[in-house]
Amino acid sequence: MKTLKDHEIPGRVTIFSGKGDLPAMRVETEWSTAEIYQHGAHITGFQKKGGIPLLFMSGASDFHHGKPIRGGVPVIFPWFGGREGMAAHGFARLADWDLVETLAPSDGSVRLHFRLPVEDEFEVDYIVTVAATLTMELTVTNTGAADFSFETCLHTYFQIGVIENIEVAGLQGVRYRDELLGEDFTEAGATIRFTAETDRVYQDSAGTVEIRDPQLQRTILVSKSGSKSTVVWNPWIEKSIRMPDFGDDEYHHMVCVESGNVGEHAITLAPGEQSSLKVEIDSLPL
Ligand code: BG6
Repeated sequence: MKTLKDHEIPGRVTIFSGKGDLPAMRVETEWSTAEIYQHGAHITGFQKKGGIPLLFMSGASDFHHGKPIRGGVPVIFPWFGGREGMAAHGFARLADWDLVETLAPSDGSVRLHFRLPVEDEFEVDYIVTVAATLTMELTVTNTGAADFSFETCLHTYFQIGVIENIEVAGLQGVRYRDELLGEDFTEAGATIRFTAETDRVYQDSAGTVEIRDPQLQRTILVSKSGSKSTVVWNPWIEKSIRMPDFGDDEYHHMVCVESGNVGEHAITLAPGEQSSLKVEIDSLPL
């Protein structure tokens, strides 16, 4: 049985003791750096060399077994949102994933392959590829004897200059449920701007979403495949105050653009079937 340390790749992957003494990995490529915790297979950092971090991390986050990390990329599986008596957003973000393999192929990228500890009915593999961009691929295989239904979401928190100044583009004409009003709408504008708490689930949204940020002078690109849902979330003032693991003012500097398959786009796999959700994030100067 390999230990985490056995997965180190000199100059590329370093295992270290992260916050809360949780095991973590630091990844280095010629273009970028990344940081990933084994707890939740949670990416807590991705940054292009010489650039500003793409991912937002809350300074108030917990780093404890049994609690989710706030910021970065929580892996949401097998359900999205609340379930009575169960962990919000599923148990994947609370699990200690197995690190199956680390690879440094000749193209200069670094790949980390995580797997959820063995379940009887399904297998979940998560491959994180760090290069000039960050690519995450979550693959679920039904290894059981009956149909298996689930939701997935890569709940990505992005670092931004100021929430009031950014624009999110790529969702015009897309139907969404406003989770705060409990009503359905169709996105009318070419871009979304933020002036209050925002919690929307866009459905049938397979295209690339852009976060245009005049203050940080960049556009973040979120491209995906195998995803029909996009969640756009900012907690604004009161919800930020209510969340114990989130700073009261941090909502200014983050926005979540989450890619997955939730609600009506939950996935059902017959025995032996497999499905993959793939998300790539990148940034360009504005
Ligand atoms: C978003 C939901 O995806 O996650 C919000 O749309 C929720 O309703 C947010 O508040 C954060 O959830 P949690 O469980 O990480 O606090």
